Amino acid sequence: MKPYYLELDWDSSQIQAETYDYCRQVGFVDSEIKHQFIPVDPKGLLAAAPALAEFFNLAGYRVISTSFYILEDLQGNLHVDRYDYLKMARINFPVLNCSNTVTEFYKIRKGSLKYHIQDNGVTYYSCEDPKPKFVTGFTLNKPTVINVLEPHRVRVINPGIRRISLTVAVDPNPVDLLF
Ligand SMILES: [Fe+2]
Repeated sequence: MKPYYLELDWDSSQIQAETYDYCRQVGFVDSEIKHQFIPVDPKGLLAAAPALAEFFNLAGYRVISTSFYILEDLQGNLHVDRYDYLKMARINFPVLNCSNTVTEFYKIRKGSLKYHIQDNGVTYYSCEDPKPKFVTGFTLNKPTVINVLEPHRVRVINPGIRRISLTVAVDPNPVDLLF
């Protein structure tokens, strides 16, 4: 089977505590959120979350970009991330209420991708296939490498509770861990 994701064997409870604190301080936990995908300055985040910085140092990765993905009462849309070699695979971390959600991968009909640009400049492709075929899924409980070029979405099992994950693009691209 095509590799879609890989859970890393790493205790990320300290990373989760520090990134949660960061989110609380910048208002991602309590304030109204306009976008689901919010890039933040990697330097500021790594300074606020030393356990996260240590993770990347030990793993030998240079951090390129850090973004929070925030879902509330909406299901995540089925999408493919913008194509970019350095962003083929990303490392995702649970921050808040990820345990009642499933990140799902689908197969879709060729030609059913549609390009979008959010008004904060983030670009992605939505999947317009009305009958996507479910392939596999996982619950984000620990750092996980995910193949963001395969159609994926986050399914929220208990809507109404804010869910936050952190997604990090690194160099070298961790796609090698998937194949
Ligand atoms: Fe994505």
